[in-house]
Amino acid sequence: MKSIVVKDNYGLDNLTIQEQTKPVITENEILVQVKSVSLNYLDVLIAKGGFGNHQFPHILGSDASGIVKEIGSKVSNFKVGDLVCTHYTQTWQNGEITLNDMQNRLGTDVQGVFSEYIALPERSLIKIPCNLTFKEASTLPIAALTAWEALVNVGQLKAGQTVLLQGTGGVSIFALQFAKALGAKVFITSSSDEKLQKAKELGADLVLNYRTNNHWQDNVMTETKGIGVDLALEMTGASLNETLGYLKINGKVVIVGFLDGSKVDLDVFEILYRNASIVGIKVGSKSSFAEMNRAIEVNNIRPFIDKEFNLSDFREAFNYVEQGKHFGKIIINF
Ligand SMILES: NC(=O)c1ccc[n+]([C@@H]2O[C@H](COP(=O)([O-])OP(=O)(O)OC[C@H]3O[C@@H](n4cnc5c(N)ncnc54)[C@H](OP(=O)(O)O)[C@@H]3O)[C@@H](O)[C@H]2O)c1
Repeated sequence: MKSIVVKDNYGLDNLTIQEQTKPVITENEILVQVKSVSLNYLDVLIAKGGFGNHQFPHILGSDASGIVKEIGSKVSNFKVGDLVCTHYTQTWQNGEITLNDMQNRLGTDVQGVFSEYIALPERSLIKIPCNLTFKEASTLPIAALTAWEALVNVGQLKAGQTVLLQGTGGVSIFALQFAKALGAKVFITSSSDEKLQKAKELGADLVLNYRTNNHWQDNVMTETKGIGVDLALEMTGASLNETLGYLKINGKVVIVGFLDGSKVDLDVFEILYRNASIVGIKVGSKSSFAEMNRAIEVNNIRPFIDKEFNLSDFREAFNYVEQGKHFGKIIINF
């Protein structure tokens, strides 16, 4: 069977499709034929050697959807023919994440799921929402669950409140869709007017070009009548000080990513003055995944797939994400 692997050293040039042995399941495992996978910025980081140490060849990937082909004798919640997708933080089933949960994440700490077949225990799979296709469901495991965790579990966003989202990548676009379903106001930034137009079509209330508009933070304050936003999802890391500048008193910043670097010259006074909360997150638990899937079904939320690639064109897919050309998600079909 074919897998997308980092061959013998880090670097996007070292990515290749490699023949691997098809897995044989144990009594507790499920064999899934993978149909589609989705790329996260994390896959690019791992391929480039920017996230953890791996044994080569390392199979990439955290997000996959497919069909159950075989089940072990002790498997009770899945049957052959079920449509499933992967759960990234495998052992994090509910409650708070533990150190142990951060040692077996798919594609990050252990081998990934960008393979024609994968064998996983029940805890590492979830049935796909009934309103979604395979392709759409492959986008959920990291980006959608991170957006859900940031807005609902940690951000506790309420109807009528305002959230600011940075950029139009996978996490931000799911966050836009979820926030609108929750009845919140969404402000979103991008380097591209074309992408901002798409965000408007998905319901964004205020769109701001952070590259061409030097006053976009002033626009946020004007739009909120000088009060600021209730919640901000920090994707860049480096702009945390600026983010605090447009946060409402008692507002919250959820740290999601560090696209512009993880070091920041933080003005602590701004945190005190604003009574601000700053909190980091790590994707989400399986019970949150189940809750999110119910919300996706009830609201008929459809993931935004910008572009699909065939397995043979996987390099193009990685380059597309690395260069930030995408809006929402991109997928590779196996
Ligand atoms: N904590 C967690 O559990 C978790 C989970 C998932 C992702 N993440 C992290 O969250 C970040 C976003 O992930 P993703 O998968 O959504 O990434 P993505 O799909 O690659 O999206 C990244 C987008 O962010 C925007 N961007 C880049 N630099 C920016 C800047 N300086 N200011 C504002 N926007 C900027 C760009 O959008 P435009 O083209 O519109 O400008 C870019 O396309 C990454 O750092 C990722 O590693 C963390």
